[in-house]
Amino acid sequence: MKRIVILASGNGSNFEAIVKTARKEKWPVEIVSMITDNPHAYAIKRAKRLGIPYKLLNYREFDSKDSYNKELFKLLKEFSPDLIVLAGYMRILPPHIIKAFRWRIVNIHPALLPAFRGLHAIERAYKAGCKVTGVTVHFVDEGVDTGPIIAQKCIEIREGESLEHLERRIHRVEHKLYPTVIKKLLFGDE
Ligand code: GRF
Repeated sequence: MKRIVILASGNGSNFEAIVKTARKEKWPVEIVSMITDNPHAYAIKRAKRLGIPYKLLNYREFDSKDSYNKELFKLLKEFSPDLIVLAGYMRILPPHIIKAFRWRIVNIHPALLPAFRGLHAIERAYKAGCKVTGVTVHFVDEGVDTGPIIAQKCIEIREGESLEHLERRIHRVEHKLYPTVIKKLLFGDE
C-alpha cells in the first residue's frame, strides 16, 4: 500500500477527483489525510462526504509562519507519505520540508508552465489573449511553480469563449491529468 497526503486550501475539486479515481480504479493506496490551512475550505466538506480523514491546521491560530510550518512538518513526518499532493494549497512550503520530501511533492498548475506562474494563471493567460493555455503537473522545488515539469496538457482558448467556460474546461482536464500522473508516479506503467 502506498500512502498519499493531500494538501488543499480551497474548493478541493482535484482532491475529490483523486480520491474517486483511486477508488474506482482500486489503486493499492491509502489516502492518509487531507491537510488544510483554511477552516472554510470546501475541501473539508468533501473530506467528510468522502470519508477521508482530514487535519485542519488553522493558519490564523498560529503565532507565526514558522510555528505553522513546524506543526505541518511534524504531521507530514507522522503520516510518512510516499507522495504529498498539493491540490490548490495556497501556501509556500518552506525549504526544509521540500528537502525532506524531495521528489515526493507534486503540484498542479492551471497554465502551461513556465508561463503564468503564480496566482490567477487562467485569467492572466485569458487576458493576455493566448490562443493556447493548459495544465501542468510538476515536482515542487523551493521556487513558486518552478519545479521540474512531469506532464502537461494543452487547451485551446476558443474564439469568443468566456473566462468561466475556459475555467470549467481547464478544471475538467486537471481532474483527469492529475490522477493519471499520480498513479504513474506511485505505480509506474504497470
Ligand atoms: C486548480 O486550478 C489548481 O491548478 C490550482 O488551484 C486550483 C485548485 O482547485 N493549483 P481545487 O481546489 O482542486 O478545486
